[in-house]
Amino acid sequence: MGRHVILNANLIPGGAIGSPWRRAPEPASYFVGIEHYLDVARTAERGLLDAVFLADSPDIQAKDWTAPSRLLEPFIAHSVLAAHTSRIGLIVTATTSYNDPYTLARSFAALSAVSGGRAGWNFVVTGGDNAARNYSLDQALPKPERYARAAEFLDVVTALWDSVPAEALTGDKSTGHYLDTALVRPIEHVGQYFRVAGPLKAPPLTHGRPLLIQAGASTHGVALGAETADAVYSAHVDPSAAVARRTELRRHAAAAGRDPDSVKLLPGLIIVLADTETAAERREQDLIDLIPDDVQLTNLADRLGISPDDLDLNAPFPWDKIPDENTDAGSRGQRAVLLDNVAARATDTRGAARLLAAGSVHAKVVGAPEQVADLIADWFSTGACDGFNLMLDELPGGLELFVDHVVPLLQRKGIFRTEYETTTLRGHYGL
Ligand SMILES: Cc1cc2nc3c(=O)[nH]c(=O)nc-3n(C[C@H](O)[C@H](O)[C@H](O)COP(=O)(O)O)c2cc1C
Repeated sequence: MGRHVILNANLIPGGAIGSPWRRAPEPASYFVGIEHYLDVARTAERGLLDAVFLADSPDIQAKDWTAPSRLLEPFIAHSVLAAHTSRIGLIVTATTSYNDPYTLARSFAALSAVSGGRAGWNFVVTGGDNAARNYSLDQALPKPERYARAAEFLDVVTALWDSVPAEALTGDKSTGHYLDTALVRPIEHVGQYFRVAGPLKAPPLTHGRPLLIQAGASTHGVALGAETADAVYSAHVDPSAAVARRTELRRHAAAAGRDPDSVKLLPGLIIVLADTETAAERREQDLIDLIPDDVQLTNLADRLGISPDDLDLNAPFPWDKIPDENTDAGSRGQRAVLLDNVAARATDTRGAARLLAAGSVHAKVVGAPEQVADLIADWFSTGACDGFNLMLDELPGGLELFVDHVVPLLQRKGIFRTEYETTTLRGHYGL
């Protein structure tokens, strides 16, 4: 078996482009409910995908008012998916800035246990002050501190996971001893942010550590990912930038004493799929037309980290109002990619809003099944990535098209599995 491309289905309720929920036959409430999640997960599993990926942030955001979003707490959602699927990986995004490492280590160990080793943690440090205000803080810590806390948080969580190794469950009925006290050990962590005794209260980790994914594009984020993560979720529009990032990631991992193959780069990939390229282009514009002007404005202001009052859809793009790259608000990575795109196209504010609506921060393909399969194969074979976080324009419909029409082409190219060869997420990733 050759190397296989990794494909996660990024569950963006309703879909990634425009306001697809407005034209969907399902009631609006469907998209924030578990039935929608189940439809996506079952389709992803039918297509032999690696995982269902849930992004998350513990605060209501501007876009939550105008489109269905991930209002469901991800551990609860994935616990249900675990019970109704058998192979697909289940990735929870959880922030190190507003969680407690013992609690989170325990939740992931439990998700791993109930899913048979299918749990993954996408760790983020979360931008902006809104989330901070839900956790008894007035504002977020400065980014370097959020990352320092993240690094220590990861040390604690992984030590806690290792404090209950698989072999610890001896279950000796003759002696009446259940856990091996020599193996289940305290961690006695004392650091700058946390003091945690351990061991973890969780079933021994029969399937090893949950998979670790990192998202966050600053130098701090990139370094932490290279040193600790099994995979990095990134935003790349251009394959040559992805090649550079993947090369750097692998070099940095090797310098940290890791096997470079043990850290995978997974850019986001937006997909608008139809029978023909022309039909796909029309589909995309139709979906963007569904977004009202006021919503386009709020979304753009939110992404740029400025007030909507500083934006006018009918005016030139306000370059003088854009915050400095080193600001703490939002993701430097996501804003920078959008700004590059706006500059490259010399577009006005409305154009910028449509670029954002079209998903300009991630790689994108609009076309027929062959075009989608060719793009995936090209990025993969030229070393731009190890796989993708797939963002389908509409869910679950777009994912059904992908599974039925693109997956067979990838299989024919010999770069995607024809059946699940393992039962765990680590196994699917070839780790
Ligand atoms: C591709 C990508 C996906 C992200 N997804 C999330 C997310 O789901 N939840 C979240 O709180 N933050 C997410 N982040 C944002 C990071 O938490 C945020 O960027 C943070 O401020 C770290 O800054 P940095 O990107 O400059 O390193 C994501 C960042 C990137 C680049």
